[in-house]
Amino acid sequence: MNEKHILLIISGGIAAVKLPELIRRLTAQGARITPVLTQSGAQFVTPLSIAALARSKVFTELFDLTEEAQMGHIELSRAADLVLVAPATAQIMAKMAQGMADDLATTLLLATDTPVMIAPSMNVRMWQHPATQRNSKRLQEDGVQIIGPNDGEMACGEYGPGRMAEVDEILARVAGFFRNGPLSGRHVLVTSGPTHEPIDPVRYIANRSSGAQGTALAAALRDLGARVSFVTGPARVPPPKGVDVHPVQTAQEMLTAVEGLLPADAAVFTAAVADWRMADAHGQKIKKQSSGAPPVLQFAENPDILARVSAHELRPQLVVGFAAETEHVIDNATSKRLRKGCDWIVANDVTPQTGIMGGAHNKITLIDKAGAETWDEMPKIDVARRLAQRIADALT
Ligand code: CTP
Repeated sequence: MNEKHILLIISGGIAAVKLPELIRRLTAQGARITPVLTQSGAQFVTPLSIAALARSKVFTELFDLTEEAQMGHIELSRAADLVLVAPATAQIMAKMAQGMADDLATTLLLATDTPVMIAPSMNVRMWQHPATQRNSKRLQEDGVQIIGPNDGEMACGEYGPGRMAEVDEILARVAGFFRNGPLSGRHVLVTSGPTHEPIDPVRYIANRSSGAQGTALAAALRDLGARVSFVTGPARVPPPKGVDVHPVQTAQEMLTAVEGLLPADAAVFTAAVADWRMADAHGQKIKKQSSGAPPVLQFAENPDILARVSAHELRPQLVVGFAAETEHVIDNATSKRLRKGCDWIVANDVTPQTGIMGGAHNKITLIDKAGAETWDEMPKIDVARRLAQRIADALT
């Protein structure tokens, strides 16, 4: 992080007590920190200790004329390479989501054109409240990267999600942002979402894939420093920021895009590609017959993108497929790995009762040539992080 400049906003949560450690580790890695302490943040850590560790003046007041004379708030907000809010309380998240600017921290956040990362920290019920979830979603749509929060015991004695991410985790995300992570210099290709296969100009064949797992994986790979090419069908979930997005509609377009993006160090195929397309899509809308006879649709098989890339002359070092199964998950996925010629298969059970397809959680079995390893059920974002780390380990 040599000489990278981080504007660190410390808002008021008990997790602020982890900040001295975070600042110490960031500066040890060469980052330059400009701390901003909110009024409530100052209830948990003192400006003096933060200034000493960051070796910088601590900014607190919006209308401090001396500060404005030295460096105006606009300049302060833009001079950094990254704005990091840790801990980020429910309150500061709500203000950010609304675009409020009623103190120095929120004014800087509104004025900045620098990427922003936040590490939320709050009571489990506050995190799970629909308002906070709405704010979190809105902030992600606005391009804010969210670190954590984690499950765990809270200072208030409750247990659940809301604990600020650990210092190591925040460091990994910041390092990844500066392309300093274990996948720095690596190119990873990810396919995601469903494909739409036209029947005629207004109708198409599709499936229920939301693109959530592929999007989470692309973000996790980006966070470890990879250059990510993200080839996505029409997904419900918006693509992550900071990756190269290549939107496609059909399987054939996906294949062309993927082949055009090779070489890559690794390729992960999370897309739910339609196995069939219309043999001859109609140029005009199919009309109802006066006889009442339904139209006969002729299908043709789509190219298997995963199998093609596995056998490609520019085959990536690591090729990972997904297997959506409804029965005999491990057996089917094990034979799928061999049939498709990929290195790993990430298998999951997509029977509707599991709620996996289109849902927020996933339970996967990772299959490689050594055998099968089943992971506990966890949020798709955690599956993505763990898988991204495995990919990083395999490539190094
Ligand atoms: N896949 C692909 N191109 C296709 C079909 C599938 O790249 N035309 C990839 C998917 O992205 C996934 C893997 O292959 O990584 C497995 O897809 P799946 O639909 O589960 O398997 P199928 O090949 O369709 O096999 P089956 O229909 O027997 O389940």
